[in-house]
Amino acid sequence: MTRDVVVDLAALGEDFTRDPYPLYAELRAQGPVHRIRMPEGADAWLVVGYEAGRAVLADDRLSKEWRNAAPGSGVRQVSAGSTMLSSDAPAHTRLRRLVTRHFTPRRVEELGPRVQEMTDGLVDAMLAAPERRADLVEALAFPLPITVICELIGVPTLDRESFRRWSNASLASPLLDDRLTAAKAVTEYLTHLLAEKRTSPGDDLISALIHTADEEGGDRLSQDELLGMAWLLLVAGHETTVNLISNGMLALLGHPDQLAALRADFDGLIDNAVEEMLRYDGPVETPTYRFTTDPVEVAGTLIPGGGEVVLVALADADRDPARFADPDRFDIRRDARGHLAFGHGIHYCLGAPLARLEARVAVRTLLDRCPDLALDIHPAALRWRTGLLIRGPERLPVRW
Ligand code: HEM
Repeated sequence: MTRDVVVDLAALGEDFTRDPYPLYAELRAQGPVHRIRMPEGADAWLVVGYEAGRAVLADDRLSKEWRNAAPGSGVRQVSAGSTMLSSDAPAHTRLRRLVTRHFTPRRVEELGPRVQEMTDGLVDAMLAAPERRADLVEALAFPLPITVICELIGVPTLDRESFRRWSNASLASPLLDDRLTAAKAVTEYLTHLLAEKRTSPGDDLISALIHTADEEGGDRLSQDELLGMAWLLLVAGHETTVNLISNGMLALLGHPDQLAALRADFDGLIDNAVEEMLRYDGPVETPTYRFTTDPVEVAGTLIPGGGEVVLVALADADRDPARFADPDRFDIRRDARGHLAFGHGIHYCLGAPLARLEARVAVRTLLDRCPDLALDIHPAALRWRTGLLIRGPERLPVRW
């Protein structure tokens, strides 16, 4: 492979979906920037390695705004409303500031007891299965984050199953039509919800955002921005955390020495263990698209201007031996800080404290309540979510 060759990721099939790390490492050995054809069919520039990846995430010469995507790039926006994740500064700065005020570490900390309560309920239900077997995705990893995020932003009656279908489809379906139809369904749902909250506000984030006004300028979110914010928080808040819990438990159950170490010193090791789960097999394989405007040199390669798609392989950055020694080893005692699983730069994940909280509570509760929890499938037999954005198993069969 050379840099002029387009690496067709779709042609690599299920092996790549199951374990993309060797291919990324192979590319990294040749250099940081590569032409790829994404499984969805469009071509992009893929950046591998830690240093180059981190630099690209913080590079303000690359745009996140869809109007900058080349018309013929083959990628399409699939989301409701305008979001901070698809804005550049200063629009981004404004949107992020308006929500950060309501998404404080204190608000997240206050959720701790509720997260524990929800987790207890879900684990109770799981352990009631007489056959002592369950799919951990279905039993805990999926319902916990969606319930938390719905409660936080004020979506009490959300039809979770439909929402899961829409959300999964809008992010990961290989068919553009499916992605667009799903996004339309979410938009309709949220439009209705916003109208309800305007007339009868609750003690939730959407109600607060509807009524928020920036201290200096009396700034408020428009209808389109509110829609985008609600959509972004719902999708970002659950599609990812599901896979932190699933990938993290898979790593622990697949490394009995690490599991035993964590059980022996839970309080001392859990924070570190969660960072290592994020580094070792994070939920976001490549984050959202960046677009060139002017021609831009990235790690020694000149990428043409005019809306070329640039992707960063976070999964590879966090397995780069130049940054993390012996990177393919899962080691809950290593210093995994500095990983890029939550991104980097102005779009650094807003929900990182919430995701960490949920993972800590979920892992602790599972280990406490199921002393003999084990995988009920050979890891090689797991089916993985398709697409380059999200990495996680579709199901995670366990027994106890
Ligand atoms: C383990 C769980 C999570 C992971 C791995 C994760 C990962 C990420 C990454 C990589 C980005 C940057 C994307 C880019 O630069 O293209 C991001 C942004 C974002 N995340 Fe998360 N996320 C997680 C959980 C959450 C949760 C729970 C929430 C909300 C409640 C959330 C809300 C957001 C938002 C709003 C942004 C956009 C920030 C901006 O554009 O300034 N995320 N996340």
